Amino acid sequence: MAVQQSRLTAFLMLLGILMVVLPLAHCDPIHDLLRDNGLPAGLLPKAVKSYTLHENGLLEVFLDRPCLAKYEDRVYFESVVKGNLSYGELVGLEGLSQKELFLWLPVKGIVVDDPSSGVILFDIGVAHKQLSLSLFDDPPDCEPKVHGTQSFRSGILQMDDRKQKGFEDQR
Ligand SMILES: *[C@@H]1O[C@H](CO)[C@@H](O)[C@H](O)[C@H]1NC(C)=O
Repeated sequence: MAVQQSRLTAFLMLLGILMVVLPLAHCDPIHDLLRDNGLPAGLLPKAVKSYTLHENGLLEVFLDRPCLAKYEDRVYFESVVKGNLSYGELVGLEGLSQKELFLWLPVKGIVVDDPSSGVILFDIGVAHKQLSLSLFDDPPDCEPKVHGTQSFRSGILQMDDRKQKGFEDQR
């Protein structure tokens, strides 16, 4: 009897441990990292392969391939997205662009000043764009984008050229 009871106890303890450990096995380090830094998890798509956070705060995120995610507008992720991560902001961004009317503009930074405002700011170089934080609650699906990559790139390049010519001094 006593043996059976201790087996039952052992079984229940094991079950308890599994219930604690299994959800952790599903945990999602990059999206947790964003949340821990006061940023919404949905800033990065589901399909993140790996990431590296360097000591100086540089975050490098590796996706399987470049892809397009739909929020309110469409956002294009290159296969490597980099930026300096600190609480409530990701600045000096590379590898992320947003469609603005017909142009793809590189997003330079993303800032959440005050989560209670419900607003997130996208720094698209020439302006800060306010978006609703709730759009970024959950990591989106991201469609692999093969065709048309060229035109995103030329859109970005055109914008960079124009910036160098005219917009530089406004920043
Ligand atoms: C990002 O961090 C690096 C290294 O600390 C620094 O040199 C660079 O100026 C930072 N960029 C921005 C936009 O803050």
